[in-house]
Amino acid sequence: SAAEKGGFPYFMLKEISEQPDALADTLRGRLSPEGSIVLDEERLSDQDFRDIDKVFIVACGTAYHAGLIAKYAIEHWTRLPCEVEMASEFRYRDPVLDRSTLVVAISQSGETLDTLMAVKHAREQKARVLAICNTNGSTIPRESDAVLYTRCGPEVGVAATKTFLGQVAACLLVGLFLAQTRGVLYGDEVAAYVDRLQRMPELVRRTLGTVEPVRELARSLAGAKAVLFLGRHVGYPVALEGALKLKELAYMHAEGFPAGELKHGPIALIEPGLPVVVVVPSPRGRANLHGKMVSNIQEVRARGARTIVIAEEGDTAVEPYADHLIRVPATSSLLAPLVTTLPLQVFACELALARGLDVDQPRNLAKSVTVE
Ligand code: G6P
Repeated sequence: SAAEKGGFPYFMLKEISEQPDALADTLRGRLSPEGSIVLDEERLSDQDFRDIDKVFIVACGTAYHAGLIAKYAIEHWTRLPCEVEMASEFRYRDPVLDRSTLVVAISQSGETLDTLMAVKHAREQKARVLAICNTNGSTIPRESDAVLYTRCGPEVGVAATKTFLGQVAACLLVGLFLAQTRGVLYGDEVAAYVDRLQRMPELVRRTLGTVEPVRELARSLAGAKAVLFLGRHVGYPVALEGALKLKELAYMHAEGFPAGELKHGPIALIEPGLPVVVVVPSPRGRANLHGKMVSNIQEVRARGARTIVIAEEGDTAVEPYADHLIRVPATSSLLAPLVTTLPLQVFACELALARGLDVDQPRNLAKSVTVE
């Protein structure tokens, strides 16, 4: 009913709008006033966390993209090797696991059979399994050693939105907690991230306040045949997520690529008028990734692409090459997906609506897939 949808015509629109609160709920009680990470629910012991020498993340669909983002943060903060794998491939490949491996299983529903079977396989190999889940008492948390709930509230739209933000935030908490417990990050480094995370729900709210032009842009692209998404660093999984949303909701051919990989093949796809969405890294970030991305935008534009550029407020270097410029608030690089994902959700949702599709119930998809 309209009441259940809180006045929105679709659950997905309601759930997109709930993201500042959903994110705050994931973080609540887990960031101490002293600037440390507190995970005091059902969890592994500090000693278990100290004994870990390798991390595996297993998940499907949107949750897999949250895992790809987590890899950047976990390896950077903890210096532990971290692999991310689609749950449906994991156990068939004979992954190398033992009791000092931490397997993080990410699943909104907690019922995805591919992910559940990966969890069971990991436990058979004696690995420690931590679930990141949105559904209390579901199967995956019950089959895991410990669980971190994302607490985003029920999500009805088939395409995940607010629970993706919750999953990314939960992964960041796990990464910081690991680094803190293992003594790899100094207390003041953890405290600086605690402070930044605390501000994120407000930045998410600000981002939502500025996405209106994205709707208009999306409607103008309803007739496009395909859309490419480019990213670098954590912007790459965000690009994959933007492409997945467009496939799921608008039934459009969409692909996400690491921008550096363009020259090795995908650039052949560029033809006049092709919309290319670019998730630009912060100009304050590492290794001049920003400058390299500006070159990539120039390259695709020179070949006729219509560039849709998602860039930080104050990033003027991208302006000459952006046919459409979408601004997001400045954040530290590893936290940026919590804001850069939002315009991509709105873009896919609005484009699907412009094509006359039901964004809550896309064809052929189920909210939770309980077959392998
Ligand atoms: C289904 C849904 C996707 C979701 C995936 C994983 O395929 O259509 O939107 O990302 O399952 O779901 P989970 O509940 O495990 O996060």
